[in-house]
Amino acid sequence: MSRQIRLLQLLDWDSPHQNASLRQELTAGLLQPKARIAPKFFYDSLGSRLFEAITELPEYYPTRTEGAIFIEHMPAIRQALGEDFTLVDLGCGNCGKAGRLFHAGTLPARYVAVDISVDFLRESLQHLKRELPEIEMIGVGTDFTHELQLPDDLPLERRMFFYPGSSIGNFSPAEAGRFLRQLTGRMDASGGLLIGIDLIKDTALLNAAYDDELGVTAAFNRNLLRHVNTRLDADFSIGDWRHVAFFNAAEARIEMHLEARRAVDASWPDDTGHCHRHFTAGERIHTENSYKYSPDSFRELLRDAGFSDIRMWTDPRAWFALFFARQTPTLT
Ligand code: AVI
Repeated sequence: MSRQIRLLQLLDWDSPHQNASLRQELTAGLLQPKARIAPKFFYDSLGSRLFEAITELPEYYPTRTEGAIFIEHMPAIRQALGEDFTLVDLGCGNCGKAGRLFHAGTLPARYVAVDISVDFLRESLQHLKRELPEIEMIGVGTDFTHELQLPDDLPLERRMFFYPGSSIGNFSPAEAGRFLRQLTGRMDASGGLLIGIDLIKDTALLNAAYDDELGVTAAFNRNLLRHVNTRLDADFSIGDWRHVAFFNAAEARIEMHLEARRAVDASWPDDTGHCHRHFTAGERIHTENSYKYSPDSFRELLRDAGFSDIRMWTDPRAWFALFFARQTPTLT
């Protein structure tokens, strides 16, 4: 039994090639007529910690509700996962959810923790490995929103993909469908997917969850500009930007934006010289969508992506749902 974790760093901001492509992605988004920044840029070290704080807020029900579903339905979840499986935790954050699963006795043979925030991933995984040295642990630092790369020597059998917290809601339904389809291609019939989904509910509850009284979500959103300043050598002044979050019922999504409090100019260097963007007062940068589903609409997304044998567990108020599904066998 090794006391070490294995870390595969596929995303490296210090590699000139990757750094250049992430900078290009940021620049392209900021120079769009409707400026946007992809939500993956929330998660620098401070952003990951701010997200941890969000999960403890009274208004942010998803983490707590999902946790209660796990406790209530652990025997059925354990039975679905079976024995001797590899848990592939997508966007593992502080590895807390997997840790709770393990401490409740649902133990994998191998744990693969995947996250974009590499330093945070290393720290979290080392901490978990000290608590549970008997489990083989591998960290993969990567941006899996583009392509999910896994270690070449990872056994294909009994891969259980774990995507809790409704993180799939940060993709559009079309992107989510493509991502789910990609997962079916990374498993065989002995594998499965355990995924958490936030359900459509009362607008006031949704709005409060993304605009808490303490202002932690606002700090999380505004920290994005701090991260952008670091990555691009840009000069966004954080105080010029206001957090805006609301439920867009027509699209079934929470939208988060940063809104300029006054006319703002921002600039940063790039390969071709200098980039500049002027924002008028009230102009917004779109920073996140968080899609909500009905049980039926998510079931349909799973089916269309090639999953079947779908099971769902929910809480008494039907605020959140946990789905388990297997790859649909193909007829040959
Ligand atoms: C990570 N993701 C599922 C969170 C969500 O609810 O969409 C991110 C978040 N943004 C603001 N609060 C939480």
